[in-house]
Amino acid sequence: MSRYSPWAQRLDGIRRADRWRRLRTVIPTGPTTAWLEGREVVVACSNDYLGLALDPRVQRAARGAGATSSRLISGDRPIHRALEERLEAWLGRPALVFSSGFLANLAVFSTVCAPGDRIASDAYNHASIIDGLRLSRAERTIVPHADPRAVPEDARLIVLEGLYSMDGDTPPLRDYPTAPWLAIDEAHAVGVLGPGGRGAAAAAGVQPDILIGTFGKAFGAGGAFVVGPPELKELLINAGRSFIFTTALPEPVAAMALAGLQAATDELRQRTRANVRRLRGGLRQLGWSPLGHDHIVPVVAGPRTLALADRLLSAGVFAPPIRYPTVARGQERLRFTVSAAHTPEQLDRICDALGAA
Ligand SMILES: Cc1ncc(COP(=O)(O)O)c(C=O)c1O
Repeated sequence: MSRYSPWAQRLDGIRRADRWRRLRTVIPTGPTTAWLEGREVVVACSNDYLGLALDPRVQRAARGAGATSSRLISGDRPIHRALEERLEAWLGRPALVFSSGFLANLAVFSTVCAPGDRIASDAYNHASIIDGLRLSRAERTIVPHADPRAVPEDARLIVLEGLYSMDGDTPPLRDYPTAPWLAIDEAHAVGVLGPGGRGAAAAAGVQPDILIGTFGKAFGAGGAFVVGPPELKELLINAGRSFIFTTALPEPVAAMALAGLQAATDELRQRTRANVRRLRGGLRQLGWSPLGHDHIVPVVAGPRTLALADRLLSAGVFAPPIRYPTVARGQERLRFTVSAAHTPEQLDRICDALGAA
């Protein structure tokens, strides 16, 4: 028995359950290409939906230093305030910047509800929402995915995502009850969907009480934000443990996020949409029925997903398999994501590679 054998035993369990995860180093060679394990590939799985991560405007914006303190001690910088002012002008309500979307969700969902409150949480919600809700010690009802009728009458808070990352769908936001508070995590939608990229809720004409967004996806930077009434911002500053007790977003990343917000134009959104049409059309021609309608394009292939992903990689297309427990057994899938920066040839190559596989 070694000191660490309990950890080794857990790892054995993970391996036996076929749930082993490993890191793969991806070296970007262009906005949608990378060097991966000895070959150049088209990246068909990043969240760089507007192609901004390698945009010179975003890259050149990086300046300043690590904050070396939480915002409440000595880490609050003018760039954080500038970012929040820009968000407020864009989304119309007070905004608070966080170091990541995971930390934003932990702070929001552990803070806004009291123990005993009932919270209705969609069954497909992200791990960061689930963990935040657990920390709240509120009563949680897991509601079947995208089913407004299943929300219990006494729910104080309904929690949804604007665009689900593994199913690529938007729930019928207008059909949810309006009496309780509504929180929508727009991590995959903001910047891309809705008028001015304001997200899936804005597209549906719904204003959630709480909107969470990230800078690490469509805006090509990192960090996150929460938008809502003034009381929400002050509550998170005063009681959100993952806001209070963490180092502020580094200045270079905050500056990149601001540049990403400024660079996210309707023209880029239209390019993403045109690319979505091309990829979805090509997949349908091959006989696949991708889920959803937008830039997350899941293709459910079941147990053969692993082999398909390997064949795609051999053909120079990188889209790792999404497996259990991220999705249910039998629902294993390839999850393609579309960027404004994909060329028509690259999108056709994804389809050709899948056709050949
Ligand atoms: C729906 C959703 N919320 C939150 C997060 C976390 O955001 P971040 O990567 O900024 O921590 C993610 C994924 O990363 C996500 O998919």
